[in-house]
Amino acid sequence: MNESTFTPGGGQAVTPVRVQRPSSGLDAAGSVSSVGSIGQRTFATRQDTTHMTTAHTMKMTDGLHVNAMAGNESGRESTHFAAYEEVPEGHFYDPDAEYEPDPEYAATLAPDAARQRRERIGPTGRPLPYFPIPGPLTDHGPATIIAMCNQKGGVGKTTSTINLGAALAEYGRRVLLVDFDPQGALSVGLGVNPMELDLTVYNLLMERGMSADEVLLKTAVPNMDLLPSNIDLSAAEVQLVSEVARESTLQRALKPLMSDYDYIVIDCQPSLGLLTVNALTAAHKVIVPLECEFFALRGVALLTETIEKVQERLNPELELDGILATMYDSRTVHSREVLARVVEAFDDHVYHTVIGRTVRFPETTVAGEPITTYASNSVGAAAYRQLAREVLARCHAE
Ligand SMILES: Nc1ncnc2c1ncn2[C@@H]1O[C@H](COP(=O)(O)OP(=O)(O)O)[C@@H](O)[C@H]1O
Ligand SMILES: [Mg+2]
Repeated sequence: MNESTFTPGGGQAVTPVRVQRPSSGLDAAGSVSSVGSIGQRTFATRQDTTHMTTAHTMKMTDGLHVNAMAGNESGRESTHFAAYEEVPEGHFYDPDAEYEPDPEYAATLAPDAARQRRERIGPTGRPLPYFPIPGPLTDHGPATIIAMCNQKGGVGKTTSTINLGAALAEYGRRVLLVDFDPQGALSVGLGVNPMELDLTVYNLLMERGMSADEVLLKTAVPNMDLLPSNIDLSAAEVQLVSEVARESTLQRALKPLMSDYDYIVIDCQPSLGLLTVNALTAAHKVIVPLECEFFALRGVALLTETIEKVQERLNPELELDGILATMYDSRTVHSREVLARVVEAFDDHVYHTVIGRTVRFPETTVAGEPITTYASNSVGAAAYRQLAREVLARCHAE
């Protein structure tokens, strides 16, 4: 048994919690079982280890239900209970249950013009505009390049890249996804085994004369291609340092592809290093996914500073397209409060579309396909389709 001590990290003070983790507690779903206590109360819960930070609702043995926010920033050591709240019975977290968001949230996603035209309040607390279903295109390109960026891991960058891309492709847009994280999670999420690849985006960046066609892969989604990556890309971060115009290497590599696609979406790695600066230099727009949890806004100032520096020095065209709230659970006060705070801080930059938390997303990674095909009628698929319509509406509003 490993033992760790939870110490309060802010919010409402709680007694430090002692948690015992069976070291072999990882199950197939990537969850770890914990038992612990808050004061005299003991609880048993399972925590999804794929999230750097997580919110869960626990049923205490004496019947009290609490929602607890466990922030685990280093991925291992520094787990805190940041806040907790009592919730009514019946709202407790059941990791085994198929969880779909509540009907009120789901209803905001209906792509139904008649219902959307009536003024309704969306999850961000603002009236929800109508995002029309985009018409077909007769010709394609030049591409709008979007960087999906947040130096924090586990906020939904890769999930948003795959599913925004797939939804845009469904609407007849030609889409290229660029895996720009040496972890290769985007490639895995599209059913590609990164370890088996001979050529990746690394070769495209580092080898003169390499053509994108040699690296490009078709995905199972019509209209959507992939520039895959694997661990080789981590070498680029070091090797690029000594290159001339090192920040614009990706921009040069993508140039020949611009006329073939309507959207190029770059899945950035969780850092603000040279690879991410390359993505921002190549991009017209940035989307920043933020997980609706306690530490959501931490680090965002550094990110916006980096975006501003790139705007000033390297890419004056770069714009923040929007902040995307992800893993929203409309049934917890905490999620709603975090979202309200994000809207307070970023106002109209926050997309009206909010992505709810559902186990369907981790499932899609295992399936190696987007949610729009894996669970086409799910609330998660509806959310990314709405995001695609909102992104298209923002592009056309300019
Ligand atoms: N809306 C969501 N609801 C539930 N789980 C999600 C959601 N979005 C992403 N996830 C899961 O959270 C984990 C981290 O998401 P990911 O997209 O890989 O983040 P990042 O690329 O920012 O590290 C993955 O296991 C993913 O399946
Ligand atoms: Mg990722």
